[in-house]
Amino acid sequence: MHDFAVDPAQPKTELYRELVAAADALTAGERDSVANMANVAALLWQYLPDLNWAGFYRAIDGELVLGPFCGKPACIRIPFGQGVCGTAAASGASQLVADVNAFPGHIACDADSRSELVVPVRRDGQVIAVLDLDAPREGRFDAEDQAGIEALAQVVADRI
Ligand code: SME
Repeated sequence: MHDFAVDPAQPKTELYRELVAAADALTAGERDSVANMANVAALLWQYLPDLNWAGFYRAIDGELVLGPFCGKPACIRIPFGQGVCGTAAASGASQLVADVNAFPGHIACDADSRSELVVPVRRDGQVIAVLDLDAPREGRFDAEDQAGIEALAQVVADRI
């Protein structure tokens, strides 16, 4: 068992520093990508307040396929270029969406979602997965969340 003490009241930069350190510690030395993605999804869920979904989609043969996550069952396959996840995967750019209803083509996997942050995970210049976080209130994510999840994506890129 790994029990990380989380203080959600601490400054966001510190929260993400701890989250990334925990993910680094949990995945270092483990070569099974499913195990590593599952533990990272669990850490996101434990560390970050106000989420209704957090996890991975993997880039396989030109589409995104659902990976380990926490939250309600979700869409299994998303074509590159579609929805927030597919846009992040196709463009290689993080997508910070304050209001999902204002995002053209947003895919409503969970009707509770109001805002979303999707960060590509790159290995050797290729998008191999995206990290997807959904929240039940508008404007849940900001630039600090984006920077924190981008740092997380870098740490896990060689381990998933
Ligand atoms: N909303 C996402 C789909 C994935 S779920 O949120 C888990 C999208 O538009 O790509």
